[in-house]
Amino acid sequence: MTAPTSAPAAAPARTTVGIVGAGPAGLLLARLLHAAGIDCVVLESRDRAYVEQRQRAGILEQGTVDVLRESGAAERLDREGLPHDGIELRFDGRAHRIDFPALTGGRRVWVYAQTEVVKDLVALQLVDGAPLLFEAQVTGVTGADSSAPTIHYTHQGVDHTLACDYVVGCDGFHGVVREAIPVEARQTFERTYPYSWLGILADVPPSSDELVYAHSPRGFALLSMRSPTVSRLYLQVPNGTDPADWSDDRIWDELDARFALADSDWKLARGPITAKSVLPMRSSVTEPMRHGRLFLAGDAAHIVPPTGAKGLNLAAADVTVLAQAFTALHRTGSTQLLDAYSATCLNRVWRAEHFSYFMTTTLHTDPSQSPFDTRLQLSQLDRIATSPHAAAELAANYAGLPLN
Ligand code: APR
Ligand code: PHB
Repeated sequence: MTAPTSAPAAAPARTTVGIVGAGPAGLLLARLLHAAGIDCVVLESRDRAYVEQRQRAGILEQGTVDVLRESGAAERLDREGLPHDGIELRFDGRAHRIDFPALTGGRRVWVYAQTEVVKDLVALQLVDGAPLLFEAQVTGVTGADSSAPTIHYTHQGVDHTLACDYVVGCDGFHGVVREAIPVEARQTFERTYPYSWLGILADVPPSSDELVYAHSPRGFALLSMRSPTVSRLYLQVPNGTDPADWSDDRIWDELDARFALADSDWKLARGPITAKSVLPMRSSVTEPMRHGRLFLAGDAAHIVPPTGAKGLNLAAADVTVLAQAFTALHRTGSTQLLDAYSATCLNRVWRAEHFSYFMTTTLHTDPSQSPFDTRLQLSQLDRIATSPHAAAELAANYAGLPLN
């Protein structure tokens, strides 16, 4: 019998762990639970095509690559992913490289788009994984404080329920599961930023072998990539910017101006821009990440600005900790790791929040900042360029801190 490659027509009526959302958090959790022999079901409101084409970031920490490999989901990553041993910082017309392995005792990162991670996990799940139902809009969760929470969802116009022992909200920042935690039982900490990113995809080989983060009086710029032939670049722009107001030439000219070096006429290679979008910047954490039989993971619990490349990696870390906890419960009956889940993850989440905030406020030019503020930024960047201690702190956070 050939393995199914399309989603099931309906989900079972009950399961052990009900997972809402088929982003990287929900899909990786389902993969890890399935491997541990724990029943679970994933309900996703969008269709497969939408979930697999949604443009997001593309940097994987060592720890994320390790868990994808351990769960048998890294075959294409190992073949097509680009290992990177460093990044370049540009400021004040200077360039400085951060050497990850040298500063972290061997850790590195990989360039492999979140979109590709999602495609790999969806394909594996449809072949030999737990049920994954697309176009299943979860409308609410009841009984979070009971021993039998229920997920309510609509699929093909029909209302359904999924009885669970546990529910995990992997439904992103705009999801519904977080709302099932009583307001008085949760607290959200937030920070917004007076700028956004204009992101482009371009069919041109990347102009650098490694990512380049540029601080400039004109605003931040980032050179990243998707493959040896596709570049991904970002520009700091005012909030509310309409991408249509930025012609291709204006974008390339502005990027060149922000990456400019004092002692070289280095210029970006230009090519056809195939996508343009504006991304808002936000920091947000909801505490606790567990309420009764209900857990939050990934963007459902926390958002980071993309400057530190932490979003996807935090989601992977959350579900790795949660899968270890469910596996311990399944094997020994102990709820110790489950009871520690929120505290364990929040410790890591706030570290990543701080690092992402640090990278964002050090490398972007706030429209209201004073020349004094700019001098402070340049002093911090110079410190990173001249002090191995400061550089090591950045490298350790960027490459990813050990999980536990
Ligand atoms: N019912 C079912 N599915 C839902 C619902 C709902 N009510 N609401 C949201 N979803 C789905 C979304 O369609 C999406 O596919 O939940 C999924 C959430 O996925 P992500 O937003 O990718 O969140 P997460 O898996 O936590 O991944 C975090 O995504 O945004 C990036 O930078 C972030 O890289 C990080 C990663
Ligand atoms: C990306 O490749 O999209 C990317 C890389 C690094 C970041 C943010 C985004 O910090």
